[in-house]
Amino acid sequence: MEEELISIKNAALSFILEAEDLKSLEETKLQFLGKSGKLTQTIKDITKIPPEKRKEFGMLANEVKQTIEDAIAQRQENLKQKSEKILRQKIDVTNPGIKPPLGHEHLVTQAIEEISGIFEKIGFTRLRYPEVEWDWYAFEALNFPQNHPARDDWETFFIKAEKDAKKGPMVLTPHTSSGQIREIEKNLAKENKDKNLSIRMLNVAKCYRRQSDVSHTPMFHQFETLVIDKDISISHLKGVLDYFAKSYFGKNRKTRIRPYHFQFTEPSFEVDVTCGVCLGRGCRLCKEGWLEMGGAGMVHPNVLRTGGIDPEKYTGFASGWGVERVLMMREGLEIDDLRLLYSNNLDFLEQF
Ligand code: PHE
Repeated sequence: MEEELISIKNAALSFILEAEDLKSLEETKLQFLGKSGKLTQTIKDITKIPPEKRKEFGMLANEVKQTIEDAIAQRQENLKQKSEKILRQKIDVTNPGIKPPLGHEHLVTQAIEEISGIFEKIGFTRLRYPEVEWDWYAFEALNFPQNHPARDDWETFFIKAEKDAKKGPMVLTPHTSSGQIREIEKNLAKENKDKNLSIRMLNVAKCYRRQSDVSHTPMFHQFETLVIDKDISISHLKGVLDYFAKSYFGKNRKTRIRPYHFQFTEPSFEVDVTCGVCLGRGCRLCKEGWLEMGGAGMVHPNVLRTGGIDPEKYTGFASGWGVERVLMMREGLEIDDLRLLYSNNLDFLEQF
């Protein structure tokens, strides 16, 4: 019986040493130590030997089992190290790396940054005001009387909230012009009224209107200028808008202003920029050579008065254009549905 145990041990050890991989090592383990393995079976035969010899036999059997287990653990460790080494040899560190995909800012954000930079160069400060705003700032203080039909042009979203006695209901800002009165209030609170009031605001913000079709999204962006100072005239307005158009669209572009109507500016204008394709001569794209950019005008004396500014002493101009609109016009993007901008479609976004 003892001899049998010794020969099992020797056989097991040589199998273990010969095992080339973890799988065959596992097989060897089963072959000797498994339920019907050779060693297990031999140990079961303990009942066949005389009781006085059993103790000795048992001790030897345990020793053999321990030796086999140790050898398996040792070999297992060696095989693991070996396979790791092979793996390491397979990695060629001189191979070019795999570039992780890099995101970038949304093209509207890019446009906002660029527009802000252009205005900041000439002394404007970029600001933001609430996008959930009182009717007072969005309309009333901007010279829109209650129930005035001009309010309908703005397709406003109303917020279900308690009305304020003076400021009326809450709305989602339908234009950035709501920032005008906020800016005036802030400056008057800060400045001594006798000191020279000097506002150069650039308000870039989200606007909301009840509109959704191929050329409108319910949320869009506007950038609004507001300049208030002594002796501000239409020439300043024209100069600033011209500077912007040349900086954003290119040196060879020109602007013109056409009479228009807004409640909060007088006179009011629509601003056009020469078409980038024909530079104003007229072509199939623009027909007459000009592309419409957005509104502008001299701040209405009523707005100044409501804000607490003496219109005899101060004048100002304001303009409000759509970010998405100028972006489309510059890039010549032939997007047949503006809603694509906000659809989170990576195939589209990754092109910019
Ligand atoms: N708020 C106007 C609009 O949304 C644009 C505008 C701004 C016009 C400032 C005049 C002055 O259409």
